[in-house]
Amino acid sequence: MPRAFPSELWVKRFRRFLSAGAQGDAAHDLEHLRRVAANALALARAEGARPEIVLAAAWLHDCVIVPKNSPRRAQASALSARRAGLFLRRAGFPSALIPAVEHAIEAHSFSAGVTPRTPEARVVQDADRLDALGAVGIARCFTVGGALGRALYAPGSVRARRIDDARYTVDHFHAKLLRLEKTMTTTAGRREARRRTAFMRTYLRRLDEEIGAVKPPAAKTRRATSRPGAYARR
Ligand SMILES: [Fe+2]
Repeated sequence: MPRAFPSELWVKRFRRFLSAGAQGDAAHDLEHLRRVAANALALARAEGARPEIVLAAAWLHDCVIVPKNSPRRAQASALSARRAGLFLRRAGFPSALIPAVEHAIEAHSFSAGVTPRTPEARVVQDADRLDALGAVGIARCFTVGGALGRALYAPGSVRARRIDDARYTVDHFHAKLLRLEKTMTTTAGRREARRRTAFMRTYLRRLDEEIGAVKPPAAKTRRATSRPGAYARR
């Protein structure tokens, strides 16, 4: 971060602005924004993106929340970009940087279909997608599914039926989350996405075992032996 840029002061302003419009959505709360900002700044260092733009875009990227099941969902990132731009102009953010912040916000969303044209936009998009993966991604997915009244899962193996993430929360892993890794556009983001996706696959395997959708792996058979001391560590 350039020394002249008061990042801590701006983070306080972002938090105050966002708290005023908080909607009680645990998957898109201030902690989501803090995590995305932290990951985005780490990716920015690797990608040579300007940290002031990345910081503002990461904190403000969800400042307008449209529910996932709303027909206006695809407009959420454009609405967020517009609201963030108005706030930043009023609050005295460096005006030359605001269009880049607006672009990064508008391009971050999966459903907007806007191609990120700048390193800052790529970094913010990857950081937001990382928060949909791994342990935190699993927690957020079930939070959203619960809020929308979806069942946890459909009985039986997902391989034997049509995926329907409008009805079953676990289906959202297969419909979208496990594919996010391939959409990452930064090298560091892709590497971390791969690590988090591997953890989610492990989780889904264990879930399938626990709900009886697949058989658990056979327990390793202990070979009988007459060697002295073979059971010493039992
Ligand atoms: Fe987000």
